Amino acid sequence: MFIHWGLYAIPARGEWVRNKEEISVEAYQPYFDEFNPTRYDPKKWARIAVDAGMKYVVLTTKHHDGFCLFDSKLTDYKSTNTPAQRDLVAEYVEAMREAGLKVGFYYSLLDWHHPHYPVDGRHPMRNNEAMKSEQRDTGKYVDYLHGQVRELLSNYGEIDVLWFDFSYDNMSGQTWRAKELVEMVRKLQPGIIMNNRLFSGHAAAAAEGSGMQYGDLETPEQIIPSAGVTDKAGNPKVWEACITLNNNWGYARDDHNYKSPAQVVRMLVECVSKGGNLLLNVGPDAKGEIPAESVAILERVGQWMRINGQSIYGAGRAAELVKPDWGRYTRAGDHLFAHLMDRPVGPVAIDGLPGKLKKARVLADGSEVKTSRPWNAAPDQANDFLTLRDARLPDELDTVVELFVR
Ligand code: GLC
Repeated sequence: MFIHWGLYAIPARGEWVRNKEEISVEAYQPYFDEFNPTRYDPKKWARIAVDAGMKYVVLTTKHHDGFCLFDSKLTDYKSTNTPAQRDLVAEYVEAMREAGLKVGFYYSLLDWHHPHYPVDGRHPMRNNEAMKSEQRDTGKYVDYLHGQVRELLSNYGEIDVLWFDFSYDNMSGQTWRAKELVEMVRKLQPGIIMNNRLFSGHAAAAAEGSGMQYGDLETPEQIIPSAGVTDKAGNPKVWEACITLNNNWGYARDDHNYKSPAQVVRMLVECVSKGGNLLLNVGPDAKGEIPAESVAILERVGQWMRINGQSIYGAGRAAELVKPDWGRYTRAGDHLFAHLMDRPVGPVAIDGLPGKLKKARVLADGSEVKTSRPWNAAPDQANDFLTLRDARLPDELDTVVELFVR
């Protein structure tokens, strides 16, 4: 579960609101002065994540607006100085751990509040001539960024995931003093998984070419790459797609453009079938609640996960099989799963396993799916088939059938 939460939950027009509406630090200040999430209950967030079948959580400790949900010694622009008066990150870490979830920190490399972050074309004050001509020293900002990462990775125990966001143009790689930063991260948290966004794109990482592994995973955003993510030689890379439930990361009151539970299940299966993970976002409101619409979708997804999780956890591509017309395949060790999403006419052809299909069972209830070759298959169709009687699939979200192969 990806969680985007901060002051922007009050204007409730998404986490880029300062940028889109060119809001100055001063004009944004009222949100800081009133930030008081009285229903913030990270244990409840953890329950929602666990019930949805999620295994790890990543929270925005600081987003582009620079506001910190943690008690940083390096700034006053933090939750402890708002009416909330608390280190919200500390409570989050404790609740997630207690629920058995892996704990992740998102940290924004951009900072539209810091006096030394350049007023560039992506800054909310990009049209403010006076601010554009100010003398700013990016190095000072980078010191601050390193200091905050040190705090986050020193003060909250073991952290499982560090999720930087993001690099662009020359705000990338060595501008962040990435080598030094990564060395510090690895030293403070040797077991951490770190994403790839200290660099803008593969090219930049390659150009840097110090032989060092800067990031452990690729992060396609709002897209699932057609063939997963591979290196230049075509070898699969570790990746995680980050995707919103509606159209925004941060809370957006009037955005009801939610994906259906079936869409969410299918995008999860698509990621797994291509060797990736899914980091699915929620944007809690100003009181601290995950929107009810999001919770309802996640509950439905969770029902599906409880009976079909075996085809997802620790699973990945079934490399020997091509994507079928009716859905997708996933494999977890010796277990091969057919995910039936579209009911084909008549019998379901299982290509690529000629004569090897021994039996098939619906994963959800263990029931038999007949595997005989139907009378009406064309003579040149020497494939195996699943025989379904009903016009509809038993589970219209995705009926998972385990295939047992000789
Ligand atoms: C982007 C956006 C941001 C969001 C992130 C999640 O790069 O700037 O608002 O946090 O993607 O991947």
